[in-house]
Amino acid sequence: MPNYILAFDQGTTSSRAILFDRRGHIKSIAQKEFTQIYPQPGWVEHNANEIWSTQVGVAAEAILKAGLQATDIAAIGITNQRETTVVWDRRTGEAVCNAIVWQDRRTSAYCDSLKRQGHEQTVREKTGLVIDAYFSATKIRWILDHVPGAKEKAEAGHLAFGTIDSWLIWNLTARKVHVTDVTNASRTLLYNINTLTWDEDLLSLFDIPASMLPEVRSSSEVVGETAASLFAARIPIAGIAGDQHAALFGQMCTKPGMVKNTYGTGCFMLMNIGDKPILSTHKLVTTIAWKIKDEVRYALEGSIFIAGAVVQWLRDGLGVISSSAEVEQLARLVKSSDGVYLVPAFAGLGAPHWNQHTRGTMVGMTRGTTKAHIARAALESIAYQTMEVLSAMEADSGIEIKELRVDGGATDNDLLMQFQADILNVRVVKPEVTEVTAIGAAYLAGLAVGFWQSVEDIQQQWNISRQYEPAASDSHQELIKGWLRAVRAAKAWADD
Ligand code: G3P
Repeated sequence: MPNYILAFDQGTTSSRAILFDRRGHIKSIAQKEFTQIYPQPGWVEHNANEIWSTQVGVAAEAILKAGLQATDIAAIGITNQRETTVVWDRRTGEAVCNAIVWQDRRTSAYCDSLKRQGHEQTVREKTGLVIDAYFSATKIRWILDHVPGAKEKAEAGHLAFGTIDSWLIWNLTARKVHVTDVTNASRTLLYNINTLTWDEDLLSLFDIPASMLPEVRSSSEVVGETAASLFAARIPIAGIAGDQHAALFGQMCTKPGMVKNTYGTGCFMLMNIGDKPILSTHKLVTTIAWKIKDEVRYALEGSIFIAGAVVQWLRDGLGVISSSAEVEQLARLVKSSDGVYLVPAFAGLGAPHWNQHTRGTMVGMTRGTTKAHIARAALESIAYQTMEVLSAMEADSGIEIKELRVDGGATDNDLLMQFQADILNVRVVKPEVTEVTAIGAAYLAGLAVGFWQSVEDIQQQWNISRQYEPAASDSHQELIKGWLRAVRAAKAWADD
């Protein structure tokens, strides 16, 4: 039996490949950034070929670095940036245009018009989602309406749609297999999370031919194997999950009420809610956590669009730091933000506000405000946004959250993690395995091929590396009030 699982982690800014052994330890990692394309303000695109070539390139590199052969790999697990939309011609295998990335806001006005027409409730009941440019359906519609000939080709059955997982598998299998998994399907606005089928009413609402859609499979099963031309041996593709779902699994949040928060460009908090899709009344979305064998698990999710990106903005936009790691040092120069709040709504506000028009706002400055206060306010904004999502989750689920499992780049920032614990009044816990997204995909693939026997088997691999206990203080309530005022101010400016 081969001794390794290869995880593909195709993210928004880079393609990564990681080899894991049976104990869940990393054998090798390879990573490559790829081009971000910004054709107009608010538009974000990726070149689908570059996604494929970087991903297959890092996979080969990871195998080489580890000194292994393809025959040493039991299976591939794929995890990916979600919602990002690729449409390709089945006959040529070529994408008809660049992939439209989840961050892209070009369909905002279309979403507003759907909301005005009163479709929100139905869409929510069927998909668990809100109508927003973030999700795939309106991006597909845009492609069909704007790429010359696309609509006709789609109607003739020549075009295929896929999220990044589908696109990679299509290419990995030499254009033979067109599939996705339930988690990625649940981010499209076209998939009914109650019946677990593509929804005909939604397909007609968005006017998308059913022939474009991939077959939907579980998150842990063999869906195909790699083409002979790619690696020296054919490797089964056995796990698929959107990156946040894979992270929930990699954090071993396997019981209802367990929550993880990933701090990346944005923040994504997911709570396992068990085997029934609870619909949020606090503006969170309901999504499929995973499907293993016949068991489906659901999650509540709060997506925050700008988290780590606010630190990048301090670096690239303001130039007050020269590397992201410097932000902690700068923020530590002051004891507090002294009443300064930065609401980093650079791309509108996601959960729990879903306001597409809000923009970044800073309030509370005085003549004494320095770049250190602004850096501190920027870091704190990440914690406050997380707090709003966590409160909404508690309200929706009726569960009082006691522990937040965290991962992602910003978890190296002790100042932020301690402030996070204080503001939430919840223990914040970091696991030993830092690559929880990739390992989540590896676990899903490994379970499917018997590399690991059961979830209980892998549960033991999750251990705590560091935890932050909340410090009790009355001042936290005052700080939170200030944040909520700042958000109201940001929204009022946009709505005026
Ligand atoms: O929903 C978008 C999310 O899946 C992107 O994650 O880690 O690629 O920024 P990431």
